[in-house]
Parts: sequence; structure tokens; C-alpha cells
Amino acid sequence: MKYTDKKAFIFDLDGVIIFTDRFHYQAWKHLADRLGIDFDESVNHRLRGISRAKSFDIILEKSNCYYSRPEKEKFIEQKNEYYKGLLKMLSPSDISREIRDTLWELKGRGYQLAIGSSSKNAKFILSRTAMTDYFDAISDGTNISRPKPDPEVFQKAAQFMNVNPHDCIVVEDAYAGIEAAKCCGMAAIGIGEASSCDKADFSIQYFSQLLDIVP
Ligand code: BG6
Ligand code: MG
Repeated sequence: MKYTDKKAFIFDLDGVIIFTDRFHYQAWKHLADRLGIDFDESVNHRLRGISRAKSFDIILEKSNCYYSRPEKEKFIEQKNEYYKGLLKMLSPSDISREIRDTLWELKGRGYQLAIGSSSKNAKFILSRTAMTDYFDAISDGTNISRPKPDPEVFQKAAQFMNVNPHDCIVVEDAYAGIEAAKCCGMAAIGIGEASSCDKADFSIQYFSQLLDIVP
């Protein structure tokens, strides 16, 4: 089956275009170790697609300490500073040829392309990897007040491109993102972990398979 009536793609960033999981893991691990909290890949796995604040609450499930809101904000900021230091290692070579060629081909076929990411570091990541110019619009953690699974980030992306939500296809690796896309009437394609999400309309294993689902 092909979507013959769509006008735009909205891509999640982390885990779809660029694989920052390892950096998030290292940065949370650094903080958790300092606070004496057990933190491993299984916890990190639950943080995919969700906000910083919610991520820290999940990490704190394994802590016996109570932290006030300002303390939590301070720790989250420390994690982010560490994370941003790691992001400086990113370069254009961190984006595969497959991803660049697929985006380029979709643009050539006339689709608008946007980013729809919960991250407040999205623009920095796009700039480090020389990806900014591939996208007609960027909706990220800096222009929303409600994180995924709320659809706000995708609705804003559609608004920025001046297209109807029903004309958009979202590509996501997180369950929260698939849920967000579906609840605002967008088509949702699952990749990576979300390829097993039963709410997704389609699953793909490789990014270039997007070229098979639209004319
Ligand atoms: C998402 C990541 O893209 O962005 C989450 O999958 C992360 O793990 C969230 O918590 C917020 O990112 P940032 O860069 O603003 O801390
Ligand atoms: Mg993601």
C-alpha cells in the first residue's frame, strides 16, 4: 500500500535521524552514579521519546531520597550540561548516506519535511551534523509546553509547514511518539523500537523503505 494523498513528513530526531541514545545514557548514568542510584540500559530504554523531567522521575523510582522541585531542576540541568558536552563529538559523518539520500529523494518528490522532537537540543544536534537545511520546519522542545505523547510538537510542525495534520506522515522510534501522531490524525510509521508498536500504521526496518510507501 502507498499513501497517495500526503504532503509532508514529520521526523522524530533522536533514534530516527541520529542515534543519541548512548549520549543520553552516559549523561544520566553519570548523574545517577553521583546520586547513588542504580541505572542501567533497561531504565534508559524507558526514557525514549519522553521529556527530561519525566525521565528523571523514572530514574528516581530506584532512589529512596526525596528531592524538592528546585533540586530536581538543578540535577536535570547538570545532566544536560554533561549531555551537551558529549553532543560536541557529533559531526556530519554521524548521519548515514541512506538517511541523507532518502530525505533528498522525498524532497525531490515534492514532500515538505519537518522535525518533530521533544528535545531542546534539537537545533544544536542538527547544526553539528549539518542537517538543518534538509528541513522546511523544526518543531522541538523549545516551542511546546506539553511533551509527547501529547501531539503538540507534531501539530506545531504541521502549522509551521502550513499543512493539515491529516496530510502528514510521522516517523517515530518511540511508542509515545506514535501515540502522539495518532491522536492528532496523522499517519504514523514505526521504526526501531516503535516498529513493534501496534498503534503504528506501518513498520519499517530501514529508513529508505519510506520511499516505498509514497509515490
Ligand atoms: C527525546 C529523547 O528525543 O528528547 C529523550 O528520546 C529525551 O530521551 C528528550 O529525554 C528530551 O531531550 P533533551 O535533549 O531536551 O534533554
Ligand atoms: Mg526518538
